[in-house]
Amino acid sequence: MNTPTLLADLYAAHDWLAVRGLLPPERRSDTLPTPHVRLHGGRTVVSFCSNNYLGLNHRPEVRAAAAQALREHTHATSESRRLGGNLALLEQLEYELAEFKKQRSALITATGLLANIAAVHGILDAGGLARRWYGSPPPVRPVVIYDELCHRSIQMGARQSSAERFRFRHNDAEHLAEILAAHQGCAVLVVTEGVFSMDGDLADLPRLVEACDTYGAVLMVDDAHGTGVYGADGSGTPDHFGLTGRIPLQVATLSKAFGGMGGAVLGDERTVTMLRTFSSGYRFTSSLPAEQAAATIAALRILRSEPGIRDALWANVRRLRAGLARMGLQPPGDGPIIPLHMGTPQAAAKFEEFMLDKGYWCVAVTPPAVSPETCRIRLTVSAMHDKEHIDGLLGRIEEIRPGLLYSQE
Ligand SMILES: Cc1ncc(COP(=O)(O)O)c(C=O)c1O
Repeated sequence: MNTPTLLADLYAAHDWLAVRGLLPPERRSDTLPTPHVRLHGGRTVVSFCSNNYLGLNHRPEVRAAAAQALREHTHATSESRRLGGNLALLEQLEYELAEFKKQRSALITATGLLANIAAVHGILDAGGLARRWYGSPPPVRPVVIYDELCHRSIQMGARQSSAERFRFRHNDAEHLAEILAAHQGCAVLVVTEGVFSMDGDLADLPRLVEACDTYGAVLMVDDAHGTGVYGADGSGTPDHFGLTGRIPLQVATLSKAFGGMGGAVLGDERTVTMLRTFSSGYRFTSSLPAEQAAATIAALRILRSEPGIRDALWANVRRLRAGLARMGLQPPGDGPIIPLHMGTPQAAAKFEEFMLDKGYWCVAVTPPAVSPETCRIRLTVSAMHDKEHIDGLLGRIEEIRPGLLYSQE
């Protein structure tokens, strides 16, 4: 039988990439970073690639809460919230998370990716879907405008929606204002990340808020990497910029600073109720397992009661960034995501290989996460690191810097 055209095409693309070394391996490990990781069947190395910024999932209280919920409820709900999967524990998590994020209401999704899909497509389409089923109220023309570097899940939500889509240049509030000016009278959603996941820089929230207020658009901030990290109390980038109460819609993941699994959409009660009813990323998928909800509640309570953990994270961020600055490297942003640009996928892969050999796991980011010419090593620092880990990493970077960094091979 002939190979179907679709598969023949896929295989040809695979082979083309494989011979050029453009299919990076997914490395296996036997443990999760503490920050030490035992690679599968082999050595233990220090991880600098986890989003587990505070190490909360290793805390005994969090593990005990997860184990207790597992015993009580087993490991999965097997149902969506509406069809019987609405454990009271989930509503407790929503209540505590909304309070922490200083928003009126929250809904939990099974992953952060689903939270973005649910939020973006939901807010754009809920009115239209309500109209289709129940015949009210009158139609408006939905438009979504997002930062060109927004996470794939935001783009997925936008594509799934019926809205017209536009992208504004990265963090360029003037470009956004131009697009907004051309769409006055439409129902507009503007989306940005609070902290950009691959670049580590912060959104220019004050200017984005101003543009949205001027043109009557709704601003949504995906604060996946800001929640638990930025702001005086860790509530996120809106608090960091003194914009508490000025951002109508936010998304948070439970998988980064909380060290769990799941996502959340936060907004006012009416918005959240409409998303619960009409958003497919929430409505048509099973709800978060009980042990994840219990673990995140425990992690959130630690985060709120022990500010020292965030202090430890920021001390580590400052130490690593200061060491890089001494080598003349000035990665963007000021937080725990630290990109080192490599130029090509091969250079990034070579760096990863070299560092692994020296005992440090620093992952190379390649297409489709970023464009080929912006391949990078994405370092992430956590509160779990200590001075020796950071100084050791800096020493190795210093060692290979002339040969590898920014090489255009
Ligand atoms: C900015 C951003 N939003 C959303 C997500 C999705 O989160 P999760 O991994 O919890 O699905 C990620 C994670 O990759 C992210 O970096």
